[in-house]
Amino acid sequence: PPYVLKADGLAAGKGVLILDDIKEAKKELKNMVSGKFGDASATVVIEQFLSGIEVSVFVITDGRNYKILPEAKDYKRIGEGDTGLNTGGMGAISPVAFANRDFMDKVDNQVIIPTIKGLRAEGIDYSGFIFFGIISVKGDPYVIEYNCRMGDPETEVVMPRLKSDLLELFDGIATGTLSERDVQIDPRTATTVMMVSGGYPESYEKGKSISGLRNVEDSIVFHAGTTDEGGMVKTNGGRVLAVTSYGKDMETALKKSYESAGKIEFDKKYIRTDIGFDLIKKPAKAKA
Ligand code: GLY
Repeated sequence: PPYVLKADGLAAGKGVLILDDIKEAKKELKNMVSGKFGDASATVVIEQFLSGIEVSVFVITDGRNYKILPEAKDYKRIGEGDTGLNTGGMGAISPVAFANRDFMDKVDNQVIIPTIKGLRAEGIDYSGFIFFGIISVKGDPYVIEYNCRMGDPETEVVMPRLKSDLLELFDGIATGTLSERDVQIDPRTATTVMMVSGGYPESYEKGKSISGLRNVEDSIVFHAGTTDEGGMVKTNGGRVLAVTSYGKDMETALKKSYESAGKIEFDKKYIRTDIGFDLIKKPAKAKA
């Protein structure tokens, strides 16, 4: 224990159960195979439990060469302090302090290079994004998952930090000339805070009028679950808006994201107020 049961199919980031009790785990395994997550859990993977801190690492590759994009950390649980149900993501931060040079060198040598070589060795002609879900266990990287896409809400902090023209990079991918392209990164921190519908990730109401969008000046507001009804922006999903800001550090960027999110209103809006809580530098303890 703990027992990690993971739906082998796509389950919108919600298909993992972590259970301490073997009887409970066996019961849930039966439930999963019988359709708890629909067809996604027809096959279940039982995984080793890894205790550590997660970071999302992204590369683009033309199949031979690759470039590492800014890393990010997302916050998947609905509740403060990473509690409650999994969501599609409640916020994200980039860069991630613990993913320092040493750690990223390990990720590069132990994960990225073998993956790119492995794809070729297996005759898989892959070009595009690779998303490595990494967990740092005592400073060593382990792969939790791969995705053939960017992450959400990581994209809302990774792309704002990419100074290079993304289209140029795509051209490099399409023409096999990625090695000739340059990836320039903005050194500032970017943070995003997700505004969600009350009740999400369980049942929630849609169609709530959103006000205050035009009052936001210092952040970028990405629309996720919204719709335009006769000129009025309304909620149309669980994850409604992502509010991204830059700062010289995480605290400054988060302050702006929260201020901007505070200017936007809709009935039953919910945000996590502790994004980045686990990355905040703790003051050194005074010595007696
Ligand atoms: N934020 C995790 C994902 O996009 O899968």
